[in-house]
Amino acid sequence: MADIDRLLDAVPLSPERSTLVDVGAGLGRVVLHAARRPYRQIVGVEISPALFEVAKENRAAYRGELACRDIRLVRADAAAFTFPRGDLVVYLYNPFRAEVLAPMLDRLGADRRRDVALVYHTPLERAAVDAHPAFELIADLGIGLVYLARREVHVPRRIIGRA
Ligand SMILES: C[S@@+](CC[C@H](N)C(=O)[O-])C[C@H]1O[C@@H](n2cnc3c(N)ncnc32)[C@H](O)[C@@H]1O
Repeated sequence: MADIDRLLDAVPLSPERSTLVDVGAGLGRVVLHAARRPYRQIVGVEISPALFEVAKENRAAYRGELACRDIRLVRADAAAFTFPRGDLVVYLYNPFRAEVLAPMLDRLGADRRRDVALVYHTPLERAAVDAHPAFELIADLGIGLVYLARREVHVPRRIIGRA
């Protein structure tokens, strides 16, 4: 759990304004631990029906601290998952190979109206993220990496040139 905290502490986005998505949520370990933080929403996406059922049981049995009240578990293939709108903290604990990761990064990096932090624990496919033009490495904690795809700031044309 200390690993999760160290990585989330390195994310420069306000939890209150962000949705955390654990891509490959397994038993719901990260979802429930992150719920001690005041994220706007937390979503766990898990492809395995068996793990998804156990994650739901773990969620129902959880009696620990809850600073986030909107916790969702979704059984889905991350490759087809539509990420929620708004600023995102995307948590990956080495869920899949670059063939799945790279198209997901393209989808996340294409929407430049928001900030997307990517927390990558055990980053076996880090080359795919390092090579992606939208994601900048902002922290290397040894156990994992934190990247940021920053929103594009648009300056309205009529303001340019005004004193
Ligand atoms: C190493 S576990 C991490 C579990 C959890 N995030 C944690 O840190 O405890 C990776 C998880 O990713 C899931 N996974 C693999 N491919 C996936 C996909 N395409 N979509 C959603 N989940 C996937 C696996 O079933 C597994 O539960």
